[in-house]
Amino acid sequence: MTAQRQVPNHIAIVMDGNGRWATRRFLPRVAGHKKGVDALRACVRHCGDIGVKVLTVFAFSSENWNRPAEEVSGLMELLAMALSREVPQLHKEGVRIHFVGDRSSLSEKVRHGLAQAEQVTAGNTRLAFNICFNYGGRWDIAQAAAGLAARGEAITEASLDRAMALNHVPDPDLLIRTGGEMRISNFLLWQAAYTELYFSDKLWPEFDAAAIDAAIADYAGRERRFGRTSAQLSGGDRRKKAA
Ligand code: IPE
Ligand code: IPE
Ligand code: MG
Repeated sequence: MTAQRQVPNHIAIVMDGNGRWATRRFLPRVAGHKKGVDALRACVRHCGDIGVKVLTVFAFSSENWNRPAEEVSGLMELLAMALSREVPQLHKEGVRIHFVGDRSSLSEKVRHGLAQAEQVTAGNTRLAFNICFNYGGRWDIAQAAAGLAARGEAITEASLDRAMALNHVPDPDLLIRTGGEMRISNFLLWQAAYTELYFSDKLWPEFDAAAIDAAIADYAGRERRFGRTSAQLSGGDRRKKAA
């Protein structure tokens, strides 16, 4: 099996630990989020370089509104700033940006930045980069079901899947959570049904290319059975189902 084949097609990441990274350095939490943007820039580049086709990151959850007002507004400003600063370079690198989440409660400025980023990069095919912002797995399932109900369509696994926010990409193969917590925190509840989970104690600002490679190496050693037995898989190409 070549190294190329072991690279997951779709990686999802809960980028956790920015606040602790800053607090340990006696810095305000927002400084940790800024450092987190640097880590994300490097991560997007590395994923593109090694042949990952889809990268989905959790940047702001439906529940993160409950944080202190100054942290929430700091995160909103950071998103708007990061979009205007980073999009031209991402575009050059062939990255297609998708925003995933509830736009309705975001400011006009942020919504405009997101729409612009999506529009500018719409023709790119090297790496699909999904930014989950004001996103929750429960929100996604509920909005998908509500959409089907409003259109009078039957609710089935297939119809819900099509109505879900990440319907433009296959399910994630590998979900990484940094920052040491072993929970999903309302991330891809529907889409992660058979995703391989990887938890790292590293804080997100410290999660570099080598750490991504370590997660991928761990993933490459997993056996994805999708409900079958190990013996059934060893008869054929065990990666076929994962592709
Ligand atoms: C993750 O880092 C980023 C967001 C939730 C926006 P945190 O801000 O949760 O960092 P910790 O968990 O407090 O260290
Ligand atoms: C999950 O991190 C959300 C993001 C990384 C955007 P949190 O820090 O909000 O999760 P909990 O509160 O520890 O579960
Ligand atoms: Mg956290």
